[in-house]
Amino acid sequence: MEKRATFATKIGVIAATVGSSVGLGNIWRFPYEAGQNGGAAFLLVYLGFVVLLGIPVMLAEFTVGRRSKANVNDAFRVLKPNSNWHLVGLFGILAAVLIMGFYAVIAGWTLEYVFQSVGNTLDKGSPEAMHTAFTSFTSSPIRPLAWTILFLSLNYAIISRGVRGGIEKASNVLMPFLFVVLIIFSIHSLTLDGAKEGLAFLFKPDFSKITSGVVLSAMGQAFFSLSLGMGTLITYASYFGKSTDLPRTSVYVAILDTLVAIIAGVIIFPAVFTYGLSPEQGPELLFVTLPNIFSQMPGGYFWSILFFILIAVAALTSTISLCEVVVAYLHEKIGFTRRRATQILTAICITLSTLCSLSFGLLSDITVFGKNFFDLSDFTASNILLPLGGLLISLFVGWSLDRSAVKEELSNKGTIPMPYFNILIFILKYIAPIGISIIFLSGLGLF
Ligand code: TRP
Repeated sequence: MEKRATFATKIGVIAATVGSSVGLGNIWRFPYEAGQNGGAAFLLVYLGFVVLLGIPVMLAEFTVGRRSKANVNDAFRVLKPNSNWHLVGLFGILAAVLIMGFYAVIAGWTLEYVFQSVGNTLDKGSPEAMHTAFTSFTSSPIRPLAWTILFLSLNYAIISRGVRGGIEKASNVLMPFLFVVLIIFSIHSLTLDGAKEGLAFLFKPDFSKITSGVVLSAMGQAFFSLSLGMGTLITYASYFGKSTDLPRTSVYVAILDTLVAIIAGVIIFPAVFTYGLSPEQGPELLFVTLPNIFSQMPGGYFWSILFFILIAVAALTSTISLCEVVVAYLHEKIGFTRRRATQILTAICITLSTLCSLSFGLLSDITVFGKNFFDLSDFTASNILLPLGGLLISLFVGWSLDRSAVKEELSNKGTIPMPYFNILIFILKYIAPIGISIIFLSGLGLF
C-alpha cells in the first residue's frame, strides 16, 4: 500500500490547521454575521460556542482522523467496520462541495480587489460611489466569475501537488504575516472618529438582541470558522504524526482563529461608523468598508495591495483544506489519481460557483425560502450541514468509540495529562448532541 503523507514538522501541523480555520470565515463572514446579529451579543454567544462545542468537536475530529489515518469516509469504516457511520463522511463531502461553491466566489472578489488596488482604482471618491462600484461589479455576469475561476485554478495548482509540497509551505510563511498586517490595520482603525462607536457595537452586548436565530447563526459561524463538522480536521489529523499534541493544537487553533475574527471586527466596525455605513448589510460589508479605510490610511495604496493578497492567500489555505477532504476520498477510495480527483472537483466547483456568482445579478430573482442560490448554499452548509455533522461526530466519539481508545489517542498513550477528559466525554455524549439539536430546531423555527 502507498504510504500516506504526514505533515513534516510540529509547526507545520499547527500552521496548516490554523491555515484551514483562518480564512474568509474570520475576515469576511464573522464581521457580516456579527453586524446582522446584534454585534456584541453575537460575539458573546459565539465565544461560548467556541469553548463549549468548538474545542470538543475539534478534539473528536482529531481523534477520528489520527486514529484511523484515513479519508473521511474510510475513517469511520476503519474505526467501526460494518456500521453506517461512514455515511457521516459522505455527508461531509457534500458539505465541502457546497461550501466551495460560494467560498470561491468571495475569494474571486478579493482577487478583483487586488487588481483594483494595484491599478489604484479602488477609491471612487465617496462611500456611496464605492458602494455603487461594488454592486455593479458583483452583479455583472462575466468579470466576477473570471476571478473565481482564476482562484479555483490557483487552488487546483496547489492541491494537485500534494500535502507536503503545497499546503505546508504556503501556510508556514503566510499565516504569521497575515496576523501582523491585521494588527497594524486594527491600530489604524482605533484612530478613526467612529472608533468608540464601533468598539461599543462589537464589545458592549445588548442581551435583548439574543434570539434563537442569533444563536443558530453564532453556532453556524463557530463551526464554519473552526472548519468543523465535515471532516476537514479528520482529514488533516490523518496526516498528523503520532507525537502531535492534539489537545494543545486544538486550543491554539481555537485561540488564534478567534483572535483573527475579533481583530477583523476591530478593523471593520470603527470604519463602518466613521464612514456612515450600515453594519447590517451582509456579505458585502467587508468589500464596501475596506476601500474607505484604505482611501484615508497613510500608505493606503501599498496596504490595500498587501491586504487583499493576504486575504486571498488565507482563503486559499482554507479552500485547500476543504478540497483535500474530497480529493483524499476520490483518490484513496475511488482510485482516481490526485490530479484527476482535483480536476473533477474543480469542475464541480466551477459549476456551483457560477450559480452563486450569478445570484448577485442575472439570477437574483430566483429564490428558495426567500434566499438566492448564494445565501441558500451558505445557510444550508453552515447552519445545517456543519452542526449536523458536528452532532454526529460527537455521538460517534462519545458513544460508539471505546472510551479507552479515545483517551489513548488524545493523551498520546498516556503521556499527556488529561484531567478534563471526563468533562470532554460528557460534552460529546450529552451537551453537544442535545444542545445542537435544540438550537437547530428552534433556530429553524421548528419549535
Ligand atoms: N474555516 C474556514 C474559514 O473560516 C473555511 C473552511 C475551511 C471550512 N474548511 C472548512 C468551513 C470546513 C467549514 C468546514 O474561512
